[in-house]
Amino acid sequence: MDSSGWAKPYKIKVVEPIRLPPREERERLLREAGYNVFNLESGDVYVDLLTDSGTGAMSQAQWAALMEGDEAYAGSRSFAQFREAVQEITGFPYVLPTHQGRGAEHVLFSAILKPGDLVPSNAHFDTTRAHVLARGAQPVDLPIPEALDPDLDHPFKGDMDVEALGKLLRDPPGRIPLVMLTVTNNTTAGQPVSMGNVRAVAALARAHGIPLVLDACRYAENCLFVREREPGYGGAEPREIASELFSFADGCTMSAKKDGLGNIGGFLALRDRPLYEKCREKLILYEGFPTYGGLAGRDLAALAVGLREALDLGYLRDRVRQVRWLGERLREAGIPVYWPPGGHAVYVDAGRLLPHIPRDAFPGQALVVALYLEGGIRAVEVGSGMMGADARMELVRLAIPRRTYTQEHLQAVVEAFARIRERAGEVRGLQLVAGEGPLRHFVARFAPL
Ligand code: F0G
Repeated sequence: MDSSGWAKPYKIKVVEPIRLPPREERERLLREAGYNVFNLESGDVYVDLLTDSGTGAMSQAQWAALMEGDEAYAGSRSFAQFREAVQEITGFPYVLPTHQGRGAEHVLFSAILKPGDLVPSNAHFDTTRAHVLARGAQPVDLPIPEALDPDLDHPFKGDMDVEALGKLLRDPPGRIPLVMLTVTNNTTAGQPVSMGNVRAVAALARAHGIPLVLDACRYAENCLFVREREPGYGGAEPREIASELFSFADGCTMSAKKDGLGNIGGFLALRDRPLYEKCREKLILYEGFPTYGGLAGRDLAALAVGLREALDLGYLRDRVRQVRWLGERLREAGIPVYWPPGGHAVYVDAGRLLPHIPRDAFPGQALVVALYLEGGIRAVEVGSGMMGADARMELVRLAIPRRTYTQEHLQAVVEAFARIRERAGEVRGLQLVAGEGPLRHFVARFAPL
């Protein structure tokens, strides 16, 4: 996939001012934030790569749809449009809207998980993991071994280890009420999952009578990777690839803040009516009536448009190539980048960029702090800070919001990294002074060592 000379499929119509605070101010702001960039105000951030979730720009068609949102409590027209889009893309007949992805996780897991259960996945995202744990169940991550080699150029490092799954299913130390696959695999550097892997995992789960549920936040980006990297899909429309992808699953949870191109929203979609009815009851309890599920009618209307736009080939190519462009420029600048770049983000190997900082001094978080200090750039740690002892690598994620930043913004990121690399030995580790549990990274406070 070459990363130069592609045609940008949009131009800018509305602008949001941003600024780079002076360096002394950035130093003070970091101190006040307890060296946790989740505590910064966005007005103090120059390029915000904290997440690609809900931070993208909507299209003019989405803004137009917003104006026609139907705010009825029951039977909203906007819900009907939303449901139709989800059914059309996924083929799942039963659609429950939720306020965001974790709302769908909460509803599904509270309907089917019991204490002591196991939930295998290629890798659970942090909220998914926390929701599994909150039910007293155990998340089991089964990435392929190749995923743990940050330099290996493999097309589908998001795949699940099918052999390991087979072993677990044959002799499970607890009940397994579902198997999950996260497409793309956010915890493993945004890497895609091959169609072949989805097919194999689905066959294995089915042979054991266990439903397969996709965590489908970034399924559209995954479809582009299948098109570009998997033999036999080169001429296929993303929409056709998506149909095949969902055909192997029994349902999905989705954060529509990613490949729904919305600022808020999500859903749970299912094939099985009894399970849907069970989940619907939980939905009313936790999220809202089944025709709004925690969202305004206007949100549903904008998502109905966004879900379809996200499957546009021109959009997807631009999206994935912009991410790749950043990955390639960083690599050229001598920054150890997890390879190949993922669909929504570039992951930098902080463990290797800052080898003098031991794991218990949070090299990833130290790099996140250095990035803000150097360039007003906000990134997120995906390592020991986020996952504690379960962390397999010390990564820093640069998540690119959709349709939001230009090449100049990303060039500023490359330059900040180059400056950090020149004086990498001076970057200091951190000590955790507050924060515990599987979600501690959101609220933790650190102090420089
Ligand atoms: N699953 C995956 C793979 C995710 O990346 C996220 C969110 C969720 C579930 C939960 O969705 O935020 O709508 O409740 N990821 C964001 C991120 C927050 O920054 O990667 P949500």
